[in-house]
Amino acid sequence: MKPLRKAVFPVAGLGTRILPATKAMPKEMLTIVDKPLIQYAVEEAREAGIEQFIFVNGRGKGALEDHFDIGYELEATMTARGKSLAPLEGTRFPPGAVMSVRQQSPLGLGHAVWCARAIVGDEPFAVLLPDDLMVGRPGCLAQMVEAYNKVGGNIVCAQDVPRARTASYGIITPGAQHGALTEVRGLVEKPKPEEAPSTLGIVGRYILQPGIMPILETIGKGAGGEIQLTDGMAALIGKQPFHAVTFDGDRHDCGDAKGFVIANLALALARDDVGPAVRAHLESIA
Ligand code: UTP
Repeated sequence: MKPLRKAVFPVAGLGTRILPATKAMPKEMLTIVDKPLIQYAVEEAREAGIEQFIFVNGRGKGALEDHFDIGYELEATMTARGKSLAPLEGTRFPPGAVMSVRQQSPLGLGHAVWCARAIVGDEPFAVLLPDDLMVGRPGCLAQMVEAYNKVGGNIVCAQDVPRARTASYGIITPGAQHGALTEVRGLVEKPKPEEAPSTLGIVGRYILQPGIMPILETIGKGAGGEIQLTDGMAALIGKQPFHAVTFDGDRHDCGDAKGFVIANLALALARDDVGPAVRAHLESIA
């Protein structure tokens, strides 16, 4: 079994659910307290042992690459003024560790992942959707890697979702269950509540085998007229091991205003530096 070293971050979406914030700024640069979403995802991947970080980027989203480059002028000025560079620590990487490919048109998540095929090569890889902010210890991808080291194959992260909301998720047909690990027998993208095979929904973390790439090349458009990663994964079931890991932690969908604000409050309240002031203010207005 090849070790997991590479992670793909699809960041080429248009972020229409949280406009106008994302008109000129990438959704993945939206800030939760004082750190952009992309950095939370990259740090989670680094904690799980990832060495190569592959952004699938789109036009006008260069800020994502700049965030992990050297901020030469900023650093020189801060150093000259005697300021600590510690806040920039999580943005520093060895040369070549962060790479980018372009998705020329946002044709869907499956298409975005396929755009990374040349860098992924013949290795297993993780996919992290930065707008799903996963808060847990160990981190979400680390929990999945622990399972991957036991069962190999393909692994998706799953959470129980309300039945009324199945049409917002890829839904799993579950097989045998052992603790947090569930065998995946089938996958369906965005089913109506009455047609959903379960309420176990896929959230934005995956460990996939490279065999998915030729499938993504040929599957064509699915739900919503987009090339769906779920459809590509469904074609692997029965050919390779396929499991879901139920994440032990909290997930915040920061792709819309409600989830974004809740995530900011949750993470702010959990912090020693800003938490007490935020809590005191909330209590004063409650
Ligand atoms: P979303 O569906 O949440 O992102 O995709 P979106 O399309 O940007 O958002 P809305 O629905 O218009 O508000 C999940 C992830 O997949 C990426 C997005 O950038 C996001 O990180 N994505 C999506 C791509 O990279 N390319 C695509 O064609 C679609």
